[in-house]
Amino acid sequence: MSERAAHEWQRRAAAEMRSAGLAAELAARAIRIGLPQLASPLFRAAEDELQHASDASLVAAELGAGGIVLDVEDLSFAREPGGPLDDLFVPALQSLAIGETLAVPLFRAMATAATEPLAKRALNRIVSDEARHAALGWRVVDAVAARDPEGAANVAKRRLPGLLGPFQIGFGEAKGPDLEAADRAWGLLDAAAYRTIWRRTWLRTLAPRLARRGWWGPRDVPGL
Ligand SMILES: [Fe+2]
Ligand SMILES: [Fe+2]
Repeated sequence: MSERAAHEWQRRAAAEMRSAGLAAELAARAIRIGLPQLASPLFRAAEDELQHASDASLVAAELGAGGIVLDVEDLSFAREPGGPLDDLFVPALQSLAIGETLAVPLFRAMATAATEPLAKRALNRIVSDEARHAALGWRVVDAVAARDPEGAANVAKRRLPGLLGPFQIGFGEAKGPDLEAADRAWGLLDAAAYRTIWRRTWLRTLAPRLARRGWWGPRDVPGL
């Protein structure tokens, strides 16, 4: 058994629950701005995330952790000062387009390394769903941007350094003690893997996608 793995899976269950809440919130926001065709896939994504949360809490329970600990603040999704288009655009850009695109290689690495069947099964399910969520994220931001291309470009350019900050800190500069074999068996990744996967995903996938949309220049954030 691994105490670190128990804690990590408990934390992940809460993160998946937050993803469920956000996807449902974004579905409502899509309806509000007259893009109801995005609501169904967003609600489906919310259901996937609820399943991830349930799978993750089963793994946590197997490891001896308690139930999901939710932070109400974290589940209250702030409205954007720019209005209803930004209310969908900004969180979809950060959490779906960027976050889920990064989640795919991260969870794939975890699923590959995990040997405990319960963890491996949960991780494989997450990998296959997050790829779909990432594609949905780019579809959502493109649909909103099509409404007001210039406005979206301005918001993206102004907000991206701040939206990327948590990824750079949490993944690009990840630190942590070495993992034990038991931690790896339950699908934990070490800090070096987080740093490598973030950097590679940023350079190969995220920066080119943002640049292609005219939302990102190579010198916008030094160090990334
Ligand atoms: Fe998820
Ligand atoms: Fe997801």
